[in-house]
Amino acid sequence: LFTSVEMAPRDPILGLNEQFGADTNPAKVNLGVGVYFDENGKLPLLQCVIAAERQMMEAPKARGYLPIEGIAAYDKAVQGLVFGADSVVVQGGRVATVQAIGGTGGLKIGADFLKRVNPGATVLISDPSWENHRALFTNAGFQVGSYPYYDAAAKGVNFDAMIGALRSAAAGTVVVLHACCHNPTGYDITPAQWDQVVEAVKSRELVAFLDMAYQGFGDGITEDGAAVQKFLAAGIEFFVSTSFSKSFSLYGERVGALSVVCGSKEDAARVLSQLKIVIRTNYSNPPTHGAQVVATVLTTPELRQMWETELAGMRTRIRQMRTALVERLKAAGVSRDFSFIAQQKGMFSYSGLTKDQMVRLRDEFGVYGVDSGRICVAALNDKNLGYVVDSIAKVL
Ligand code: LMR
Repeated sequence: LFTSVEMAPRDPILGLNEQFGADTNPAKVNLGVGVYFDENGKLPLLQCVIAAERQMMEAPKARGYLPIEGIAAYDKAVQGLVFGADSVVVQGGRVATVQAIGGTGGLKIGADFLKRVNPGATVLISDPSWENHRALFTNAGFQVGSYPYYDAAAKGVNFDAMIGALRSAAAGTVVVLHACCHNPTGYDITPAQWDQVVEAVKSRELVAFLDMAYQGFGDGITEDGAAVQKFLAAGIEFFVSTSFSKSFSLYGERVGALSVVCGSKEDAARVLSQLKIVIRTNYSNPPTHGAQVVATVLTTPELRQMWETELAGMRTRIRQMRTALVERLKAAGVSRDFSFIAQQKGMFSYSGLTKDQMVRLRDEFGVYGVDSGRICVAALNDKNLGYVVDSIAKVL
């Protein structure tokens, strides 16, 4: 049975973690996977999470099965965060939200559901996009194409080409959009450009699927959710996947959600019933702990305040590292202008380094980034920055 099974290639991002773990170089630095490390290079355990867990331990609960759609208070808190608790769609019961196994789980539930309601649709992802988008939608049975996004020469977004592609897409095409902190490039479109995207989605009758994995890592919780508000204002149906992996530093708990904004309360009820079938036939129902932590933090005013402060701390530190990286590269005598790194948003920077240079960084210096040139600036700190800068200077 298995003799003809082919060896699959390593995952382009998580595979690097495996390689990093096996690397014996004591100076190694992991700028591959999108994980925030603090100023001491440690994965943070947020104080708000510790406090929520303490509160939960004081009144320990038995672990029965959760409803298929997850913890009700969690789903409600997600809606409040993503759309606003007072928004017309939430108040009107027009959003179907389900707890998901991380943001990836939210994308997968949405993809499987879309395959049922819109089986012949093509999916368009940005060029480039998170490496898993293409695989995930392809595995759900879709033809996956792309719309232009990154402009290497201009160090930014080729918006004319992007909007042109959206305007010529067939009705029903699913368009995967990064709500904020574009992964991998770090370049977001402007509010005025979002207006044009929303208009194209609406007039061409496209299906927008917003991947929101980094809310709070760009400019702030509200600011990073602005694109969602624009879609709401347009009065159209759309999808949003949410991840709390980064914003709560709860990577291993796999806490995410999928929300589907519908035209009516009745539509939302029927959509929810279908999402539940997708979940039930994949993994039955979601786990309790991480979602309970997030729900507790989001619904307890002191804990929520604590979270917002901690999230702001992570955001600020990333910005400082961006600036420091630009300055240190300059100080190291690198002539290429890297100032664009300070303009990018979120955890990642598309560094412009070639695949060969990325491989050299890894093999010769133990500095791990993705072959595409993406580096996770959220893993830089004052201690490893000098080494990373010297290594980049050498491969250049
Ligand atoms: C990343 O892009 O590195 C993160 O989203 C982690 C992942 O699952 O790939």
